Amino acid sequence: MAAVLPTADLAAHARPQDFEILSLAESLGAQVVGLDLSQPLNAQDFARIHRAHLDHHVLVFRDQRITPQQQVDFSRRFGPLQIHVLKNFLLAGNPEILVVSNILENGQPIGLGDAGHFWHSDLSYKEAPSLGSLLHAQELPAEGGDTLFANQHTAYDALPEALKERIAPLKAEHTYLAKYEELRARSPWRPKLTDEQVKEVQAVIHPVVRTHPETGRKALFVSEHFTTRIVGLAEDESQALLEELFALSEKPEHLYRHAWLPHDMVFWDNRSVMHLAAGTPDHLRRKLYRTTVEGDTPF
Ligand code: SIN
Repeated sequence: MAAVLPTADLAAHARPQDFEILSLAESLGAQVVGLDLSQPLNAQDFARIHRAHLDHHVLVFRDQRITPQQQVDFSRRFGPLQIHVLKNFLLAGNPEILVVSNILENGQPIGLGDAGHFWHSDLSYKEAPSLGSLLHAQELPAEGGDTLFANQHTAYDALPEALKERIAPLKAEHTYLAKYEELRARSPWRPKLTDEQVKEVQAVIHPVVRTHPETGRKALFVSEHFTTRIVGLAEDESQALLEELFALSEKPEHLYRHAWLPHDMVFWDNRSVMHLAAGTPDHLRRKLYRTTVEGDTPF
């Protein structure tokens, strides 16, 4: 009987694959066509994907017929995976996967239906936020359900010089709880958090402008969903500055809008982009599986 090889050994023995990486939009996004993620990637193919992820910030892997475990295995090539605080929406048998879905079964939600309702970078409320997230389409609506991405490098680059200087030394608070009660009031997806869950998501402080640890590029790192205040500024000044930065970070020239195709897997860089779920009509079903890879503490 053949021995079962660990993932690293499988990758070492993997055959090269023939695939293309094609740009999707000027500001960000590329699609990867012809790559099969159910097979382990060899070192050269992995290096090509890694480079493309750094260059394009959002990669769309077309037509991936992969199992949840294969999604987990591929995601782990980029780093340790993070487990979401809403344990009730973790996939049975694969707790590294958060189910993102508006589907109710027997009146109960099977996933987090309002994930991405506000612009955000995943898990920015942690000391070590997410490097990147991978979202694999399981069931898509006939209309709606798009995901928008905003390039925070180009958003930063386009700021007036005076504003760049003003925000250079600033830090901001991020908390998972910022919009939690507002979302909970209008959706069936937000259970009351236990004391333990609240402890797990203590507020953290991050720089307003972060430096990408692999490319050295600067990016805006504040979001409507999780950033509550700029440290050291009066409440009204902090709010006004955050609103100004939110508006500049979401300008159309920094955006890519992803209209999902069956079996797409999208892998975005949370150090470079923010994202937003555009919304799905209530009567249509949408289900995706998300993994998040742990990143560095922002600097
Ligand atoms: C998310 O914010 O991770 C979910 C995005 C989406 O459902 O389009």
